[in-house]
Amino acid sequence: MRIYDIILKKRNGHPLTKDEISYFIQEYTRGNIPDYQAASLLMAIYFQKMNKEETANLTEAMMNSGDVLDLSRIHGIKVDKHSTGGVGDTTTLIVAPLVASCNVPVAKMSGRGLGHTGGTIDKLESIKGFHVELTNEQFIGNVNQHKISVIGQSANLAPADKKLYALRDVTATVDNLSLIASSIMSKKLAAGSNAIILDVKVGSGAFMKDLESGIALANEMVDIGHHMGRETVAILTSMEQPLGFAIGNSLEIEEAIQTLQGYGPVDLTELSITLASHMVLLAKEAADIGAAREKVMMKLQSGEALNKFKEFVEAQGGDPMVITDTKLLPHAAYKMDVVAPENGYIQSIQTDDMGVAALVLGAGRENKDSQIDLSAGILMQKKIGDYILKGEAYATLYTNKKDMIEKAKDIIVNAITLTNEPVDKPKLIKAIVMKDHVEIM
Ligand code: URA
Ligand code: CA
Repeated sequence: MRIYDIILKKRNGHPLTKDEISYFIQEYTRGNIPDYQAASLLMAIYFQKMNKEETANLTEAMMNSGDVLDLSRIHGIKVDKHSTGGVGDTTTLIVAPLVASCNVPVAKMSGRGLGHTGGTIDKLESIKGFHVELTNEQFIGNVNQHKISVIGQSANLAPADKKLYALRDVTATVDNLSLIASSIMSKKLAAGSNAIILDVKVGSGAFMKDLESGIALANEMVDIGHHMGRETVAILTSMEQPLGFAIGNSLEIEEAIQTLQGYGPVDLTELSITLASHMVLLAKEAADIGAAREKVMMKLQSGEALNKFKEFVEAQGGDPMVITDTKLLPHAAYKMDVVAPENGYIQSIQTDDMGVAALVLGAGRENKDSQIDLSAGILMQKKIGDYILKGEAYATLYTNKKDMIEKAKDIIVNAITLTNEPVDKPKLIKAIVMKDHVEIM
């Protein structure tokens, strides 16, 4: 087989065989195909597209390019959750203990944040002592004992995707549905769970800016999951504004604890309950979605989910006292309000810019090696549809970098648009995509 022929075939619009796709992925991962030929094939795929079968074969080849986790020694149906990436998305921290308290095993491999989106591991590490460096034995043991554990992403998980994603990033070939879907699903499938719930974000803070393209991506991923024998459901949700009020690591831990205590932000609470209900259903711990939701609500209201979070923190070396005393979390030296320049209703929020403002304050990484400030971030006071008076705060900044405050302020003032006309709040849950079935809310 020759890579030249594969590029030519795709350039001319023909579907590639399973063998051709495997050959490309294997040889590229091994370093036997140079970046210029891989980039050329990616561009051909970008223009000529891939059909469902090619996309599934690409996913499978990327999944098999590295370690595939074996979670078979964990009892029960393992359900994984994946978000396509958002700003202030605190849901994993709430959903994981919530479903674990419903008897659903959560064996989660998570990543760190990069750019304007945060990572679950960074958030958890703002709890003193918490660590994710567990052996496979410890990880599996923790899930069997506590129903929940989180480890850092193995360096050898879908290495083909790691290489290809970096190449796509610099060759303008990221935003192709087959390439995004196979990239995300190869990692999820290699992480070893039996079923997958996908939170596909739509809006100014997401990859997919509108519902139609979000549904198209969701369909691709749901099809791949089923092709690989994993039940997969996608929920399309709003990323037209940051989720909840907190953006930033320790701020989001505090927000997660408040939500588990029952007084978190309405949107974050509702999304967490919805995702958790679908996971409980996928794990067959409830007969239908209504019963699943009832079970989840009960675990939230009774405090069992909060206790599960405490148990989980303690099992991974973290200080469980943070649950009752969030003052034990890292706190920033400077705190500053950003105020509205005029009266009005909040019409829109450029969500990715809010993530950039949090990054500027120290909450995120510019590149893989940058240091992160766990105490930095933003607490929103107002969301889309709220009325605000001139001089009233719409957000509060937290940072240790005093000289960055003005820059962050400018970004936020420019990211928020005001109007004199009343504005509807965006719909939080927009659609659900299952195998052969799309429900638009
Ligand atoms: N996230 C991924 O992991 N891969 C993509 O291609 C896009 C988003
Ligand atoms: Ca949040």
